[in-house]
Amino acid sequence: MAIDPQVVEKHAVSRYTTGARINHWITAITLVLLATSGLALFHPVLFWLTGLFGGGAATRAIHPWLGVILFFSFAGLFFRFVSLNAWNKDDTEWMKNLGAVAKGEEDKLPELGKYNAGQKLVFWGMSLLILGLISSGVVIWDKYFDHLSGVDQKRVAQLAHSWLAVGAITIWIVHVYAAIWVRGTIRAMTRGSVTAGWAFRHHRKWLREEARKPVGTTGKAP
Ligand code: HEM
Repeated sequence: MAIDPQVVEKHAVSRYTTGARINHWITAITLVLLATSGLALFHPVLFWLTGLFGGGAATRAIHPWLGVILFFSFAGLFFRFVSLNAWNKDDTEWMKNLGAVAKGEEDKLPELGKYNAGQKLVFWGMSLLILGLISSGVVIWDKYFDHLSGVDQKRVAQLAHSWLAVGAITIWIVHVYAAIWVRGTIRAMTRGSVTAGWAFRHHRKWLREEARKPVGTTGKAP
């Protein structure tokens, strides 16, 4: 029997504040623009993508500034969510049983807090890659920092920058795929809430913690 949508909404659990969602979507849009402008500069086959940014010279000028925006925007996400992404023994257990997760048998695994091990790996992976991308990016940002490094250092930085970007794009694809694959997840970042059923199924320990909070205070942080 279908459940009345009004009942589902009545029991929705708040997951993100408006500020956190704005912070997330600025980060997401910036990463897409960065990847597009970066790929445009990476290989002649993709040079046509510079048309989206007003030509080759404009793309070259805009790309590093997008990197600066991503760095600060992601820093916002980092400080909001870092405490919730600390690794614990349940995460190790979860990673050892990915087969059960894929089969939707999460009941056989320990109850989870706000994030699962996969989400935590995305969080830490992105954190390290973005740190590496901004550091190597500064070394090859000749307009302002040319004098700070030599040709050999710039070559190493250029190579590292490209590989780190491949890593970030890969993690981004995994992140988006997982958000779509686990039904009912996207609305956490669009509407700020999830259904109680979703929370019970995927993040039961978190749901229990939220349920213990006084009425009106759930989902307030971060
Ligand atoms: C269009 C692309 C994107 C989509 C559709 C998307 C979707 C989502 C969704 C639905 C959540 C909530 C998951 C949950 O609460 O269980 C989430 C969380 C998150 N997203 Fe994204 N996202 C995108 C891009 C990005 C990018 C580019 C980054 C970082 C560079 C990012 C970083 C995060 C972080 C840090 C969280 C919180 C999870 C955690 O701390 O482990 N997202 N995203």
